[in-house]
Amino acid sequence: MKLIIAIIQPSKLEAVKEALTKVDVFRLTVMDCQGFGRQKGQTGVYRGHEFSVNLLRKVQLQIAVNEEFVKPTVDAILQGGHTGEIGDGKIFVLPMDDCIRIRTGERGSEAI
Ligand SMILES: Nc1ncnc2c1ncn2[C@@H]1O[C@H](COP(=O)(O)OP(=O)(O)OP(=O)(O)O)[C@@H](O)[C@H]1O
Ligand SMILES: [Mg+2]
Repeated sequence: MKLIIAIIQPSKLEAVKEALTKVDVFRLTVMDCQGFGRQKGQTGVYRGHEFSVNLLRKVQLQIAVNEEFVKPTVDAILQGGHTGEIGDGKIFVLPMDDCIRIRTGERGSEAI
């Protein structure tokens, strides 16, 4: 099992959700977040002045998946979230030890 954390442009959320639906990924957590990458939040130059807001608004997705869903999920996020511009975001894939469905007590793969 893996936990996939993706930080994407808010404007790409709908496209990413649609792409995930096409590969049968229907369970996810979505959070508004702020952050910056290697440009340190600089978005460009305006009238000769560097325009820096530091913390940029992004959307974070958390998706817990079984192994066979890792590649389809990552591919769907890439397909829905890509513009080719800086700040498109990142995907982190983390090992996940366990998952427990609170209602039933099921654990592991079947609980996902
Ligand atoms: N190494 C990191 N650790 C934690 N969060 C990160 C990391 N890199 C990026 N992020 C988060 O992802 C968001 C988008 O990152 P971003 O796409 O700007 O990455 P980048 O490495 O600067 O790539 P690019 O050059 O394409 O902009 C950031 O605003 C931040 O919230
Ligand atoms: Mg960046």
